[in-house]
Amino acid sequence: MSPHSLGGFFIVFEGIDGTGKSTQIKLLAHFLRSLGHHVVTTAEPTRGKFGRQIRALYRNRGRISPREELELFIADRREHLHHLILPALRRNSIVICDRYFLSTAAYQGARGFSPDEIITRHAFARQPELALIIEAPIDQCLQRITTARKETPNDFEQRTSLEKVDFVFRQLFLPYICRVDGSGSIVEVQAQIMEHVTTLLRSRLTYLPHS
Ligand code: ADP
Ligand code: TYD
Repeated sequence: MSPHSLGGFFIVFEGIDGTGKSTQIKLLAHFLRSLGHHVVTTAEPTRGKFGRQIRALYRNRGRISPREELELFIADRREHLHHLILPALRRNSIVICDRYFLSTAAYQGARGFSPDEIITRHAFARQPELALIIEAPIDQCLQRITTARKETPNDFEQRTSLEKVDFVFRQLFLPYICRVDGSGSIVEVQAQIMEHVTTLLRSRLTYLPHS
């Protein structure tokens, strides 16, 4: 039985900016490829038509209304699903996505929309098999953005908004959500993620070794 004979699966990483999502996605993709899986890594907002419009807002978020912003993220996701995520899953790849609709629930929820209604709006969207929400103290995340990544926080990364976003992320409960403590070292965070992912793989691919 090939690693792909049971179909593709979809893993998403969620959490506030600076929790270490992109760092951990690279490590997880490397690990899964070493097991022989075909892995596609991707991210939202995308580099497509709507994603480019979103990026143009990073330094001036007030240019459009919260409603228009919400609709842009949903349009970007719809396009992403149809052009990349669903075709890759149909080819039995493991798709790992940096942010998905729980980010909309948390970020646009923090701007006043109901997180539950945002989740309901995503009835069209393929549910992930696993959503890893990485949690870490906001100060630590901001420090990682400014010190390690040497960036100035953009309009989506201001402390007061991140506090609200963090609060919404912590209120989300869905069967496929697993929470990861992102406050430790990169290796410590990776160990927790590998635990969740190997549990998922074992439930689908019974021949994986139990070490
Ligand atoms: P995100 O994708 O969630 O915004 P990144 O993976 O880009 O976060 O991480 C932000 C910065 O923090 C990067 O420079 C990264 O090297 C660093 N970093 C990531 N995880 C950790 C960690 N566990 N401990 C210390 N620094 C980290
Ligand atoms: P981010 O993951 O930082 O992308 P990049 O590294 O390419 O800049 O996402 C950009 C910002 O967009 C981030 O602050 C979170 C925000 N965001 C939302 O507000 N709603 C969403 O649905 C998504 C996917 C992201």
